[in-house]
Amino acid sequence: MYEEMGRKLAAGGRQELTTKLRVLVTGGAGYIGSIAVEMLRRAGFEISILDDCSTGHSESIPSGTRFIKGSLLNPADIADSLAGCDAVMHFAGKSLVGESVEKPELYWSVNVTGTRNLLDQMRVARISKIVFSSSAAVYGEPNVIPILETSSTNPTNPYGATKLAIDEMLSAETQSHGIAAASLRYFNVAGALKTDRGWLAERHSPESHLIPNVLRSSTTNPIKVFGTDWPTVDGTCIRDYVHVVDLIDAHIKTLDSLVFDTHQIFNLGSGKGYSVREVIQAVSFARGSEVPTIDSSRRAGDPAVLISDISKAESVLGWKPERDLNVMVTDTLSSFEL
Ligand code: UFG
Repeated sequence: MYEEMGRKLAAGGRQELTTKLRVLVTGGAGYIGSIAVEMLRRAGFEISILDDCSTGHSESIPSGTRFIKGSLLNPADIADSLAGCDAVMHFAGKSLVGESVEKPELYWSVNVTGTRNLLDQMRVARISKIVFSSSAAVYGEPNVIPILETSSTNPTNPYGATKLAIDEMLSAETQSHGIAAASLRYFNVAGALKTDRGWLAERHSPESHLIPNVLRSSTTNPIKVFGTDWPTVDGTCIRDYVHVVDLIDAHIKTLDSLVFDTHQIFNLGSGKGYSVREVIQAVSFARGSEVPTIDSSRRAGDPAVLISDISKAESVLGWKPERDLNVMVTDTLSSFEL
């Protein structure tokens, strides 16, 4: 079924790509958004960026790119950034699970109200295509592994709840207003992209993600392994890591496969799981020295195992992740060194 759908959608989309589309990238100064900007430019798209630079970095923006430093909470900024655009890739938003527990109101405001404002302004500007950064956090603690797009959604923190609310908002918007939308549910994104302006990579402050933290570990600052008594082979949590370049490749393929009146949902991962200890081993190999670790208690809210089923993205989008965990680790390491 997916194969047939894939052929139909891709054929329809490609006709439109013969003209040069202008894409608004919200959050285009952030880690994933800036890599999207770079890859969209390389693929021949025109770009506009909307980013408030609250967590993004304006230096990541290529010179000559249309950039509106503004907020999703300000409809005038959104209207300005949408001028001349044909489609939107929506990355902007708050994305820290821990922070979302402390400040849920911030997440409901920026993520949900911000997206509501974006959709309202898109309607005013008659722009009807949107690809949205959703998250595996919508699934919560899964009952079945691997996780399918049809698996039950039960977010365990406000971050995941806001991503799910936006997915639902997009479904309603396609039904009421006929737009073409896709939600891409990311598993664990890692890696970096080298450009002629240097590496585009994760630069969160504070950094909570495993791979950059393992790469920074030292004898005076050993990586904490959050939980060694999980019901897994080596007692540590298992996650599904996807290289950011493969992730953005899926976004570009999704743009080519949007269908009016339809909200499509795709999991984006690798379909494979690695334990925390396996990630540490991969980093030890890349660094050429043992990574100092310290066993710690479980982190609140962590599910034991998250692994995606990516067969829908593979067959409908014709997408396949090509970069494995070792590439994610070595690219992140290179981005630190240069
Ligand atoms: N971990 C450690 N030590 C650290 C950091 C992480 O042991 O210093 C462990 C975590 O406990 C977890 C694994 O490494 O088991 C991965 O943790 P990350 O923080 O890198 O990523 P998460 O799996 O917590 O989060 C990811 C995305 C979120 C998304 C979530 C979905 O980054 O945006 O998956 O559950 F919400």
